[in-house]
Amino acid sequence: MKADLVINNGKIVSPDGVIEASIAIKDGKVLAVGAASAMPPATETFDATGLHILPGAIDDHVHFRDPGYPHKEDWESGTAAAAVGGVTCVFDMPNTIPPTANGEILAAKHAIAASKAHIDYGLYGLLGDNTIATVPELIDGGIIGFKLYMGNTFGKIPSPDTGATLECFEVAAATGKRVSLHAENNDIMERRQKRLMAAGKRDQWAHLAARPNVVAVEAVSRAAILAEWTGARIHVLHISTAEELRPLREAKARGVDITGETCPHYLMLSTDDYARVPGIIAVNPPVREKQNQEPIWGALIDGSIDVIATDHAPHAREEKTRNDIWTVDCGFPGVETQMPLMLTAVNEGRMSISDYVRMSAVNPARIWGLYPRKGALLPGSDADIAIVDLAREHVIHDAETQSRSKVSPWDGRKVRGLPIHTLVRGRFVMKDRKLVGAKGWGRSVHAIQAMPEPKVLNAEHSMQSITRASA
Ligand code: NCD
Ligand code: ZN
Repeated sequence: MKADLVINNGKIVSPDGVIEASIAIKDGKVLAVGAASAMPPATETFDATGLHILPGAIDDHVHFRDPGYPHKEDWESGTAAAAVGGVTCVFDMPNTIPPTANGEILAAKHAIAASKAHIDYGLYGLLGDNTIATVPELIDGGIIGFKLYMGNTFGKIPSPDTGATLECFEVAAATGKRVSLHAENNDIMERRQKRLMAAGKRDQWAHLAARPNVVAVEAVSRAAILAEWTGARIHVLHISTAEELRPLREAKARGVDITGETCPHYLMLSTDDYARVPGIIAVNPPVREKQNQEPIWGALIDGSIDVIATDHAPHAREEKTRNDIWTVDCGFPGVETQMPLMLTAVNEGRMSISDYVRMSAVNPARIWGLYPRKGALLPGSDADIAIVDLAREHVIHDAETQSRSKVSPWDGRKVRGLPIHTLVRGRFVMKDRKLVGAKGWGRSVHAIQAMPEPKVLNAEHSMQSITRASA
């Protein structure tokens, strides 16, 4: 059998180690991994001497703003940024305009994504008080999972109260899909923000004061209890505090299907950076005091936190540099810089490159039902590949990035370790650091997703059961 492409002389990284081997690709899939002499003949060969070959990163938390905010980002610019960042699959959040809340809106977003995406993707459906009834059409329309906003953030999606959240979890549990959570307590934040505003506080520190660590730990704890009761699968997004780790670990130990994510900004930035980039660093949950960093690193490396993702949240410069913090749009881009930042941490000896592959590709593929089709370089896996140069030094300049948002707290940051080539299903989407036109090549992964069977608990107490008409 003839392969389409054989990549020779690279170091192939898996969670178990690094091997010097060749990799053969045919029809978009990995055909074989092994000694160069064992490879089939190929139409094309590629020399990866000195480079590491990783399963492409799966970023389960991006905001590509399309439809709704084309000046911030769209599917083309967002997936271009991903491709240049070594990211081969993203999951897009539902806080677009209109929010991804029913089948019709979902179908429209699928059409946009399919026409513009350079890389593969999944779409989140919004889960909230007003979408309980549309869950079946969201499932039929093809979603990777649900997003539930426990706390308010950009886009002002209403946060369900605890009663509605329980019902949302009951409904989601029966689908088997995972629910990603923006886990911040809305009541506490709203009350504190109102008081802070009345007291005339309007700087970067006031944003943090409105969202102290208890906001996050309370929400994670409550979500874990509701998930345990209903059997809902939940994923705690953007873990930013040391305190969240206790309810996360305890719930895991009790067998709750709960997973966690953090982002580079909670590992590498702190309140020490506030004076340097006020407004620009504003994000929900906030970048916090430095003492949170080491516990989060520890949890990521010991596997308590499963996933490194980015919360890529692009905004325009004008929206990030207003003087009144309450009018600043929260979030900043990250999909393009996650891999260089984390490879820098590998170079610094924080973790091994196998650890990195576990948190950036293997774990997200596993928890979202895509493994081993995605997240692995095994025979039969999709040939989604990031080829990286661990020795390459680079300075992040926002102005040079693919994202339409040219403003982030990473501007000027030195990194060591850079993706050089990216392939999606066997096709180069970035070569020699240059995007190679693959607009429209990306495909939704919902069709290949295989979640384990749903495990519904306490069904007899669910809203649906207690309100069912008696026979
Ligand atoms: C996100 C955005 O801009 O959409 N902003 C943010 O500060 N993280 C919303 C979110 O993910 O919370
Ligand atoms: Zn969020």
